[in-house]
Amino acid sequence: MTEKDFIPQPYSKTLENGSFTWSSPSNIALIKYWGKKKHQIPENPSVSFTLDYCKTTTTVHFSKKESNDEFSFDVFLEGVKKDDFKPKIATFFKRIESYLPFLKAYHFKIETSNSFPHSSGIASSASGMSALALCLMSIEQDLTVIQSDSEEAQDFFNQKASFLSRLGSGSASRSIEGDLVVWGTHQEIAGSSDLYGVKYPHDVHENFKNYQDTILLVDKGEKQVSSTVGHNLMHNHPYAERRFDQAHENMSKLISIFKTGDLDTFIKIVESEALTLHSMMMTSMPYFILMKPNTLEIINAIWGYRVKTNSKICFTLDAGANVHVLYPEIEKESVMEFIKDELVAYCQNGHYISDQIGFGAQLIS
Ligand code: DP6
Repeated sequence: MTEKDFIPQPYSKTLENGSFTWSSPSNIALIKYWGKKKHQIPENPSVSFTLDYCKTTTTVHFSKKESNDEFSFDVFLEGVKKDDFKPKIATFFKRIESYLPFLKAYHFKIETSNSFPHSSGIASSASGMSALALCLMSIEQDLTVIQSDSEEAQDFFNQKASFLSRLGSGSASRSIEGDLVVWGTHQEIAGSSDLYGVKYPHDVHENFKNYQDTILLVDKGEKQVSSTVGHNLMHNHPYAERRFDQAHENMSKLISIFKTGDLDTFIKIVESEALTLHSMMMTSMPYFILMKPNTLEIINAIWGYRVKTNSKICFTLDAGANVHVLYPEIEKESVMEFIKDELVAYCQNGHYISDQIGFGAQLIS
């Protein structure tokens, strides 16, 4: 597939108005996307667990307008008008206009809400952009005369939804469909693409079923460095090329880990990826430390608990101070006890979110 394959044939149906609601999850990367080229093309492949509880639900109401000369939309978060969200959505619309040529023909009312607190420091761009892209895809589907619910048509719908999501936010391309999603071309993953995410196609061991993710909210403030600024720091970064190669190598290692269920090696790759992401930020110019003292306290406590109990608990990080604690379902009770007894004290206001692997976005209405 190339970009051109996502440009639709002229629509032969007309629609006056309507609405669609989609709910789409956040995801947590095991191999990190950090560094991109023009047009939201990733520098390396990434893979993530789709989350189940952390979701954005978006309704897009559309109504035909008189002229087709500009975009027209309003955005509401939890019922409150959010004009400060508009520039990001306007940029998104500009990027996707050639793939969804109806965008200037309608006024859109976009109503969105998150299952997690907006100020939690949890990235909502993946769930938010994918939910919006899916609503727009449903409109396109309605504008298309020949509709089919064949597997092929469904696959194309998901592929294009992921393609559009990527143009909103790279990691959003991994939030459409599947529990484990790969985005970015990797030679051992047939069908993988820089343009959209695909369901991880190889065997996955029982050990990873219902994998748990408890998100410890160490710092609920605004992101210190936006992801766009962060990705840009990989241009001319002294270690960039080696890092991009490493992501390919780690993906190859994960393929056999997913197959055999080797959790000890899984832990090594996942924690190393998190620390590498942060190392890239520490060694860029300008440089940033995104961890907080409590991030390190938590990491050390996890390492201590692992030595003491032989648990398969591990951590990963986004581009911020919060910690995702990952562990197999069979350890749910014991690890939650450890989290409550020892880790919650390091969270801002004692806040954490318990989540687990989910299966992707859902059409609500
Ligand atoms: C650290 O997807 O937020 O979470 O494409 O600029 O919107 P943009 O970036 P974004 O970057 C996410 C980076 C990450 C790692 C990951 O999710 O793979």
